[in-house]
Amino acid sequence: MSVDKLSSKHTSVVGLQWGDEGKGKIVDLLSEGFDMAVRWNGGSNAGHSVQVGANKYAFHLIPSAILRPHCTSVLANGVVIDPVQLISEIDGLVERGVAIGGNLKISPQAHVVMPYHAMQDQLAENKLGEKKIGTTARGIGPCYADKASRHLAVRVADLIDATRLRERLEHIVPEKNAIFSALFSCAPLQWEPIFKQYYPCGQRLKPHVCNTTALVHKAMAAGRRVLFEGANAALLDLDHGTFPFVTSSNCGTGLCAGTGVPPQMIEQVLGVVKAYSSRVGGGPFPTEQDNAIGEKIRQRGREFGTTTGRPRRCGWLDLVALRYSASLTGATGLCVMLLDVLSTFDELQVCTGYQMGIATITDFPADAQELARVKPIYKTLPGWADDLRTVRHAKALPAAARAYIELIEEQVGVPVKMISVGPGRDETLILQ
Ligand code: GDP
Ligand code: IMO
Ligand code: MG
Repeated sequence: MSVDKLSSKHTSVVGLQWGDEGKGKIVDLLSEGFDMAVRWNGGSNAGHSVQVGANKYAFHLIPSAILRPHCTSVLANGVVIDPVQLISEIDGLVERGVAIGGNLKISPQAHVVMPYHAMQDQLAENKLGEKKIGTTARGIGPCYADKASRHLAVRVADLIDATRLRERLEHIVPEKNAIFSALFSCAPLQWEPIFKQYYPCGQRLKPHVCNTTALVHKAMAAGRRVLFEGANAALLDLDHGTFPFVTSSNCGTGLCAGTGVPPQMIEQVLGVVKAYSSRVGGGPFPTEQDNAIGEKIRQRGREFGTTTGRPRRCGWLDLVALRYSASLTGATGLCVMLLDVLSTFDELQVCTGYQMGIATITDFPADAQELARVKPIYKTLPGWADDLRTVRHAKALPAAARAYIELIEEQVGVPVKMISVGPGRDETLILQ
């Protein structure tokens, strides 16, 4: 097995469904051949798992390449950083013997998730009741909203400077209190305790802060290879996903804005996709199996959230959605993950179109309310009994599993470059 060919180009790794496709595993695997890995969106709503032998890691903010000491890990401007979470991740890794020194870089332009953001996220969800989005309550939406509002924002450059942080909090906290008391009848917050907790966090992170846009550009100009790690996934994209059941970043389309790297510099886009579908939180999910099939997938795939522990909703692979997300992200290759989970099903269903009233549609609807009304049209394929976790070459896959992969390639029109049959690094088939 060699990933050399895949790591010869500047590469974007992006999720093509509703998250948790296995991006962490792919980034960890590929980063062996890259000099730099860049997270460019989202925050600690992401949960990227990496398994190396018996060691399991769950990264929320730290790039999944951090286990490779030769690879510089970057949190670029588009990420929203909860400094308390980031420091706890750094400390957790250091305790486990992972050296994090000069190889973690943080953009001064990245926005900071403050404690009132997580509060606002949770309070807004509680208020929405049945209509809630089902967020991770990590303050992601409120932080990006404050970024857009500008006058309520705190950036890393503010966090690391006492005068600037004090000035920001003195202005912002009364504004937040007005919102909290009017909408949620909360007791007012004081800015001083927030300053006392967050200023030292800024000082801890300060040695890592540098102009990451210049850093990435210089690395590329010097012929270093750069890997871009998307968090969340295309169908959760703020503009192009199943709005309003999305996250608050352009997680399928925002790499350039989130890094300052222009589009022509990205030479390869690897779209990561589960061999089935899963979703956490609310929102339409046409192929959901809220039944024994979904339960079997959940148990076999251990489909419980890496960030919140919530059971993930599970269902069949949706090729209408996948065609859409592959075109949205410009995927040049697919990594089909968790194929082993589909072993032991007599038959597998794959959605190839949607029924909408009397019409058949093959385009993913632009409106989530429309998506909620479609009925999936399934193609039934034979299953396979074999355990795939020991398979190391595509040719050694059962014929039914190969046919399943070929159907994906044919329907999406993008070649499958990798197949994953287990969480470990070696449980990966590379298709050249
Ligand atoms: P991410 O958010 O896209 O990085 O994905 P998560 O880490 O949240 O969820 C993917 C889960 O599937 C993790 O627990 C991985 O360890 C696990 N995983 C990844 N690839 C495979 C695979 O091929 N087979 C199995 N059984 N598990 C896998
Ligand atoms: P990774 O990177 C799965 C979902 C949440 C919720 C919606 C909005 O691990 O694939 P947010 O807290 O972002 O405002 O929540 O988006 N969501 C994810 N689901 N994996 C993720 O990240 C997710 N990031 C956000 O469950 O439905
Ligand atoms: Mg995840």
